[in-house]
Amino acid sequence: MERTVIADALKSTAFGAKMNVKGWVRTRRGNKNVSFIALNDGSTIKNIQIVADIAKFGEDFLKPITTGACISVIGTLVESMGKGQSVEIQADEIEIYGTADPDAYPLQKKGHSLEYLREIAYLRPRTNTFGAVFRMRHHMAMAIHTFFHERGFFYFHTPLITASDCEGAGQMFQVTTLNLYDLKKDENGSIDYSRDFFGKQASLTVSGQLEGELGALSLGKIYTFGPTFRAENSNTPRHLSEFWMIEPEVAFNRIEENMQLAQEFIQYCVRWALEKCQDDLAFLCEMYDNELIDRLKFVVNNDFQRLTYTEGIRILEEAVANGRKFEFPVGWGTDLQSEHERYLVEEHFKKPVILTDYPKEIKSFYMKQNDDGKTVRAMDVLFPKIGEIIGGSEREENYDKLKTRAAEMGVPDKDIWWYLDTRRFGTAPHAGFGLGFERLMLFVTGMSNIRDVIPFPRTPNNADF
Ligand code: 4AD
Ligand code: MG
Repeated sequence: MERTVIADALKSTAFGAKMNVKGWVRTRRGNKNVSFIALNDGSTIKNIQIVADIAKFGEDFLKPITTGACISVIGTLVESMGKGQSVEIQADEIEIYGTADPDAYPLQKKGHSLEYLREIAYLRPRTNTFGAVFRMRHHMAMAIHTFFHERGFFYFHTPLITASDCEGAGQMFQVTTLNLYDLKKDENGSIDYSRDFFGKQASLTVSGQLEGELGALSLGKIYTFGPTFRAENSNTPRHLSEFWMIEPEVAFNRIEENMQLAQEFIQYCVRWALEKCQDDLAFLCEMYDNELIDRLKFVVNNDFQRLTYTEGIRILEEAVANGRKFEFPVGWGTDLQSEHERYLVEEHFKKPVILTDYPKEIKSFYMKQNDDGKTVRAMDVLFPKIGEIIGGSEREENYDKLKTRAAEMGVPDKDIWWYLDTRRFGTAPHAGFGLGFERLMLFVTGMSNIRDVIPFPRTPNNADF
């Protein structure tokens, strides 16, 4: 008999029909006459109730069906008398695929802390919380691909192994097959990378942007969606060493269109979550964050506030003058800390904010330089509870300016000559941005630690599972 997934079984009204469901036992309880098994197969946050007559199966047979065990049940779909559920299955046959010794299985019923669940990340997708989060993660990925596909963007695959540091921040994980126990160095003490696998020093990418720009300057509108890696030692609830990034890049777009695209993109994804993830959202809202759904609706229905970095600094300085305390100092030229970003978003404007035109010293070499000689056409999208969710810019399309700025910022020509060349051969205005997928996930799920929105987080000192 073909398996029915529990999400479909729960929606069915074919009462009296025979069905086969399979899944993992959440709980088994009951009395002398009957056992009630709450079964979940991951297709929905909801369990289906299996009713097993003890006279039929026997106590001894049912005994190993404990929390975590995996079973297959053939039975009759019936209307449920119990509250909170519409259907249940009256079992005819039960096959036990795998037991889960109650003394050893780490997930006993409810109430484990998120910290504890992180230690058993290999099992946590079986909990309600992580089931909800990872189903939503899938839906957000689908929303992203659909959004760009509908708008004529091409999904462009950029390499994960690279010889250039896009952000120029020196936070790359090196990729090598050199024998680290026997490293050959030249007379200057330098390692001879010509003997390494790629014949030069190589690393895991921090961003697909540079190659993405090549895509945009040929296919017009592209996006990337893949893993990126950063060896920054930031142990915060918003940083991962391995995270997924979505990077659209569009030929002929200026910063205004870039901002509009960013807003429409996030609103589309959030609307998708509200429409397609209702059960999971309702659960997360109730369990973790009562304002979650309201916050999502607010973002969908309101324009993001746009202002320059300089205006943002003025607002922050005014707040400081009025007695607002921040841990880090505020002043033109300094990078904004998360606390500053959240002040603007949560306290001052009370809506998402797009900050533009940052000082060139605190941004990457590729951003388009403004005529003032001090700022670049950068844009950061700042979100409630998250801070920076998107970073992007209009790109410098002038060959000389780009080359000079790269040199000033210490990005070697030999690494990016191919990138610079696009400004020699049919250069064009263009713009793009990067959305941190897990930051979006934090926003739509209401979870507060980025380690809880990716199945197997990688952070400093942690690469388990
Ligand atoms: O601001 P970032 O560093 O920008 C870039 O990488 C550009 N190349 C993007 C572009 O213009 N195409 O990173 C973009 C976004 C951030 O806004 C943040 O959401 C996320 O990536 N991000 C991280 N997410 C999780 N962990 C980290 N360590 C992150 N670093 C950045
Ligand atoms: Mg950034």
